[in-house]
Amino acid sequence: MRFDILTLFPGIFEGYLSESILSDAIKKGALEVNLYNMRDWANDKHNTMDDRPFGGGPGMVLKVDRVVPCVEEVRSYDARPGRIVMMTPQGRPLTQRVVEELAREERLILLCGRYEGFDQRVVDILQPDEISIGDYVLNGGEVAATVIIDSVMRLLPGVLGDEDSATFDSFSTGNRTLEEDQYTRPREYRGLAVPEILLSGDHGLIDKWREANRRQKTFFRRPDLLFGGDSSEDDPQ
Ligand code: ADE
Repeated sequence: MRFDILTLFPGIFEGYLSESILSDAIKKGALEVNLYNMRDWANDKHNTMDDRPFGGGPGMVLKVDRVVPCVEEVRSYDARPGRIVMMTPQGRPLTQRVVEELAREERLILLCGRYEGFDQRVVDILQPDEISIGDYVLNGGEVAATVIIDSVMRLLPGVLGDEDSATFDSFSTGNRTLEEDQYTRPREYRGLAVPEILLSGDHGLIDKWREANRRQKTFFRRPDLLFGGDSSEDDPQ
């Protein structure tokens, strides 16, 4: 899968892209990530990317005549048109269901805004999939874009080993429970012992304990997952 990230702050991604699972996956060829600085498409002597909003008000707006040519040019770098994703708090909420949908694409072009956002005509012309990672406001779309890459990439073939398979993750399609409590050595710490059943070697009993633990935890923390309501199975799409 190919990711193209369009941002005014490419440096934000560098540490993240060079660490752990992601850099391994890039080395293995399971995904390719390209970073573009949108400022390279500013064609005036001050490299202007933003301007004051018509009608007044605080903040600055990213200019349509900079952003659209940038996206169009980057899109032409590969025969696969891909899906343009705009990171914005006005977008549809990101859930595991949306992540699964994005993971089926061959290419994602991630547009990260700053300031007060993009000129509305960027949306009108490019018709991106507008996505929000939650009802809070970040300084820009960069952190949201890393959330998309991180959550999508773990669903791509060859990225996770079998032992860390994403199939049983909480929120994945068909799974409506949180994960069970996990323990490792030592068996006792500060008077807190590991539940006996997990040490019993009886895998039938262990599976039953885990299932009960998942359901109890979900019941108290996220009853919406068990009884419908706002869960990834009924996202507003
Ligand atoms: N940009 C700023 N806030 C955001 C959010 N909550 N989700 C996605 N992009 C954003």
